[in-house]
Amino acid sequence: MALMIKGGTVVNADQTLKADVLCVDGKIVQVGADLPVPAGAEVVDAGGLYVMPGGIDPHTHMQLPFMGTVATEDFYTGTAAGLAGGTTMIIDFVIPNPQQPLMEAYQTWREWAAKAVSDYSFHVAVTWWDDSVGSDMERLVKEEGVNSFKHFMAYKNAIMAEDETLVNSFSRCLELGAMPTVHAENGELVYHLQRKLIAMGLTGPEAHPLSRPSEVEGEAANRAIRIAQSLGVPLYLVHVSCKEAVDEIARARHEGQRVYGEVLAGHLELDDSVYRNKDWEFAAAHVMSPPFRPKGHQEVLWKALQGGTLQTTATDHCCFCADQKAMGRNDFSRIPNGTAGVEDRMMVLWDSGVNSGRLTMNEFVAVTSTNAAKIFNVYPQKGSVSVGADADIVLWDPAASHTLSAKTHHQNIDFNIFEGRTVQGKPAYTISQGKVVFANGELKVERGAGRYIKRPAFPNIYEAVERYNRTHVPVPVERD
Ligand code: URP
Ligand code: ZN
Ligand code: ZN
Ligand code: ZN
Repeated sequence: MALMIKGGTVVNADQTLKADVLCVDGKIVQVGADLPVPAGAEVVDAGGLYVMPGGIDPHTHMQLPFMGTVATEDFYTGTAAGLAGGTTMIIDFVIPNPQQPLMEAYQTWREWAAKAVSDYSFHVAVTWWDDSVGSDMERLVKEEGVNSFKHFMAYKNAIMAEDETLVNSFSRCLELGAMPTVHAENGELVYHLQRKLIAMGLTGPEAHPLSRPSEVEGEAANRAIRIAQSLGVPLYLVHVSCKEAVDEIARARHEGQRVYGEVLAGHLELDDSVYRNKDWEFAAAHVMSPPFRPKGHQEVLWKALQGGTLQTTATDHCCFCADQKAMGRNDFSRIPNGTAGVEDRMMVLWDSGVNSGRLTMNEFVAVTSTNAAKIFNVYPQKGSVSVGADADIVLWDPAASHTLSAKTHHQNIDFNIFEGRTVQGKPAYTISQGKVVFANGELKVERGAGRYIKRPAFPNIYEAVERYNRTHVPVPVERD
């Protein structure tokens, strides 16, 4: 099966060039000017379009069982919505219950994800610790292609990882050549503040951001970074939402530590005034953690993304509808945490990033796909329009505009946090595994066509990590 993308401008993280792209059997086989069209090839006219690597959303939660309910968006609808927005791969999370074997949870998530329409991969959360967890981590790395493990420092009495778990799991990650990642919020403080606010009569969604102020994130970010530093292991912080956490990452990087940060489209764009809306449903629809931050933090996040302190963008796509949010009618701490965006991320990033001059097109590609592919070790299979790469491509129309809305989006949720926003720049075509799966607003997806993507351990940074750690091994003093 051959697909020729004719007459477009290829935009990669490292360069922009006028070139045709030939895809055969799901792979890119030629990139060059004026390529001849092979007999029988389907031709897509990319005149006036940018030919970019499909987006990689490294943080989604399809059909997640969480806070007493299950996220409405499943792997079928969620990956389809991603394709409609130019995202061709997600990295979702396997989240075992405390005491549940990691391998068991992993198998469950693999079964759920079999209906995906785009490629996907998994981070696995470490929510508890004993030796069997360390053994399962090894199996996951060596047999299943999992090279990243997630730690929730929040959600006390549920999936929160204590410091003991962080230390054991980060150490194991180092041995296995995997990347530890953290949701950085001090869960003990959140729990304390939630109880205190409710006792004060603050039971509505306006109390949600008050229960998780930015210092709560800054403390946990610093703790995770310092633990990683002590152990000599790299670290990736998911959904960095505030100045305090950015400052910790910047400091660590400035001091030579390999620390990476992800920012969500929502945190770049929205502020915490949404929680004070008179409409309870509107306010509750924005409840996610970390919360949207007071005005000012957004600009800090943008500058950190522009300046390279933060390297990736994601959505934390985790859909709960109004009836589910209503579980917290009388107690904000019971509102299921999560917001959507897998379909919107690329358009919002282009509109706010490229159209404003904050990001070059190449930087846009870096922060929407290439950097995630590199950090999570699937580059250049993903994150690159080059010979040998998977033919996961978005043909971007910079002239077209689109209004984001729950009425028209493909996401399986009754709310859109970007409701009514008109963006300029959107996918004209999305190509997954060399097939056109989205064109002119229409999805043409096949249930189960998505493949599980294995991500090998020891990303290239590990060579340096290991060499550095070897040369810093303490030696005993020889005494008579
Ligand atoms: O509110 C959120 N973010 N829900 C999903 C779980 C998580 O913390 O990432
Ligand atoms: Zn989180
Ligand atoms: Zn999440
Ligand atoms: Zn749409």
